[in-house]
Amino acid sequence: MAEALATQILAILFCLSAAAAVARTKFYSVNSQDSTSVSFLNANDGICKSVVEPKGYACQEHTVTTKDGYILSIQRVPSGLSGQAADKPPVLLQHGLIVDGVTWLMNLPEQSLALILADNGYDVWIANSRGTRFSRGHTSVKPTESVYWDWTWDELLAYDLSATFQLVHDQTGQNLHYVGHSLGTLIALAAFSQQKLLNMLRSAALLSPIAYLNHLSSPFARGIIDLFLAEDLYWLGLHEFTPRGGQAVKKLLEDFCSKPGINCSDIVTPITGPNCCLNSSWTNEFFHYEPRSTATKNLIHLAQMARTGTIAMYDYGNENDNMDHYGQPTPPVYNMASIPNDLPLFLSYGGKDYLSDVKDVQVLLENLKDHDGDKLVVQYIDEYAHADFVLGVNANRIVFDPLMAFFKIN
Ligand SMILES: *[C@@H]1O[C@H](CO)[C@@H](O)[C@H](O)[C@H]1NC(C)=O
Ligand SMILES: *[C@@H]1O[C@H](CO)[C@@H](O)[C@H](O)[C@H]1NC(C)=O
Repeated sequence: MAEALATQILAILFCLSAAAAVARTKFYSVNSQDSTSVSFLNANDGICKSVVEPKGYACQEHTVTTKDGYILSIQRVPSGLSGQAADKPPVLLQHGLIVDGVTWLMNLPEQSLALILADNGYDVWIANSRGTRFSRGHTSVKPTESVYWDWTWDELLAYDLSATFQLVHDQTGQNLHYVGHSLGTLIALAAFSQQKLLNMLRSAALLSPIAYLNHLSSPFARGIIDLFLAEDLYWLGLHEFTPRGGQAVKKLLEDFCSKPGINCSDIVTPITGPNCCLNSSWTNEFFHYEPRSTATKNLIHLAQMARTGTIAMYDYGNENDNMDHYGQPTPPVYNMASIPNDLPLFLSYGGKDYLSDVKDVQVLLENLKDHDGDKLVVQYIDEYAHADFVLGVNANRIVFDPLMAFFKIN
């Protein structure tokens, strides 16, 4: 029984991860990947050397150690293509679930937010969350140990986000603008709701915001999330969730993809929504071959939110364990209405986005109804789905130009 169930769950989770961007992809063939591997990045080189410098931009590699020991890499693009040093404030870019900082750089330079910002005089900093390719270090444990993966987005905001904010603030002596996509919006909103990081922040731009997950549009996703929650102890045993997780994952995905009615060539659209504007000449390959992962516990936390419709800390599933962790029988709630009304916010969401559903964004906006009118800019893009906000070939004109206009006045 567990196998059929496991098969479906893995596939859906993989979709949520690949979600990030593919129109078509293959989900299995771990072996053929290894023999025909298209290498976008040399794993030993950092993001600067493999992605930024080849495009002609200066780039610095930085690291910061979180209070709980994770060693994160951050890239700084301190000047535009012309070489002229930034004369505008720092901007921190925070990627979403299971992708990493490279997503801000993969399109042509005039389409990639990190490089557009640098060319417009901003001092650009690119974050990479724990567990992603270039942030796998730790002061005492290794990614091969289960304890390394004992975290959810609660820790991403409590430790990773505060460490990266502090690094940028210390290095530049300035408060920063923030840009988050997908999970990068949730952790920021949750931190701001607790009055955290505000002393280092100028403004925040939230692309394809994820906060409430009650209306995930895909019935397919919802069905599997329910199954996943029913078996959460089994999945927690896997610790690190990676689509390239070896023979077990390969077998499960093959089984899933061979089911009647399941077409793994286009399984992402039903999950993320139909992305209108990706560059298919490289996105398929990129999202198929690049290794990426997150903590299984993090995915369970997100599934809990989809079930309950609330934004709360991770639920240990019983009153005793919650008491041990939180001193109360239920997990503490993040109250979005506590975000300061005068914090400049730019929020951009799409009509075709199944992960950041229009109805859930409306609930978030309802929470922000007392926000100062001139501090909240809301943009709705009818044709955009989840990945278009970062990788759309026309996002420069549609999203990034208004975003920079917003930064300019804040
Ligand atoms: C699966 O979807 C792809 C892309 O939409 C299509 O080209 C292919 O023919 C489909 N395969 C099957 C078996 O339906
Ligand atoms: C798509 O990407 C390729 C490879 O980087 C590039 O040559 C092409 O111009 C891009 N197309 C668009 C529409 O941006």
